[in-house]
Amino acid sequence: MSNGANSITSKEVTDEDIALDLTLRPKKLSEFIGQTASKEQLRIFIEAARRRKEALDHVLLSGPPGLGKTTLANIVATELGVNIRSTSGPAIERQGDLAAILTNLEPGDVLFIDEIHRLPRTVEEILYPAMEDFKIDIVIGKGPGARTVRLDLPRFTLVGATTRMGLMSAPLLSRFGVALRLEYYPLEDMKKIVMRSAKILGVLIDDEGCSEIARRSRGTPRIGNRLLRRVRDFAEVEANSFIDGKVASKAMELLQVDDAGLDVIDRAVLEVVVGKFSGGPVGLKTLAAAVGEEPDTIEEVHEPFLMMLGFIKRTPRGRVATPRAYEHLGREYGGLDTPLFH
Ligand SMILES: Nc1ncnc2c1ncn2[C@@H]1O[C@H](COP(=O)(O)OP(=O)(O)OP(=O)(O)O)[C@@H](O)[C@H]1O
Ligand SMILES: [Mg+2]
Repeated sequence: MSNGANSITSKEVTDEDIALDLTLRPKKLSEFIGQTASKEQLRIFIEAARRRKEALDHVLLSGPPGLGKTTLANIVATELGVNIRSTSGPAIERQGDLAAILTNLEPGDVLFIDEIHRLPRTVEEILYPAMEDFKIDIVIGKGPGARTVRLDLPRFTLVGATTRMGLMSAPLLSRFGVALRLEYYPLEDMKKIVMRSAKILGVLIDDEGCSEIARRSRGTPRIGNRLLRRVRDFAEVEANSFIDGKVASKAMELLQVDDAGLDVIDRAVLEVVVGKFSGGPVGLKTLAAAVGEEPDTIEEVHEPFLMMLGFIKRTPRGRVATPRAYEHLGREYGGLDTPLFH
């Protein structure tokens, strides 16, 4: 188990997380807070498809974990009034698996493929004609007697989600008519999300309490919701179930989430770059090994957040810490390539 298993940024999704996600997931586009640019595009395309009574163009949703990709995929189906069939890249191992799913779709349905960058290449190849011409070729039989049969598919909408758009192949990318990138939520949106969740969960919280939680949620609704749940536990035991600014702040201390929203792993990353490697540059693998985390987790979860805060930068030679990182750790910045302590 990695260090981060118990941290608020953990990629491991527990049963409790799944239940919380389901309870708090907005069901309609109008309930989905923020991401205005993406939402507006979706609204228009959905409306147009509905008026023409046609399937919506294929949609690709990309962005860091927990920003609402799965939520939006479900909203697309709901707003179109069609069924959604959900699967994920790693779950489809063979061409036959995908062929079975595709041939069972009803006209207009949404097929949601999560982690689409992890689709095996051979499977990807039968997806191309399916997306483009709504046809698939399946091979029947083996050896010299084998023959290919071309099957017509109903017009469907593929919604793909990925945390790593850079790992997707060009031919697959080019077959999506709509590509939307979800961004970290600004503080104001995060506050609205935390408030909405508190209302649904029946949590007593004031404006300051919401701000404290929103401020430390790394612009990520899933983390905001996790924090809210843990702060609620704290408030039930320690503060008569009411969350104000002070209670939220105290709970965060207990959870080891600092003022900027950094958790134990984020701080470990900074400490390694600053302390062990004099500000960098440090390669990803070295960094991950020193922190005791998977390189993927560092790259997908911690780095983007630290970069957004301006604490680290990526250079061709590796990761470097900025003066702001030193300030956050309460250390003096000595400039790069200069020993810190003479
Ligand atoms: N815009 C939003 N407004 C309100 N709640 C949201 C919003 N976006 C996400 N959430 C909440 O955050 C939770 C996580 O979102 P979701 O599962 O859609 O993220 P994801 O991008 O699919 O993450 P992953 O990459 O890990 O699959 C949802 O269950 C929902 O409660
Ligand atoms: Mg998801």
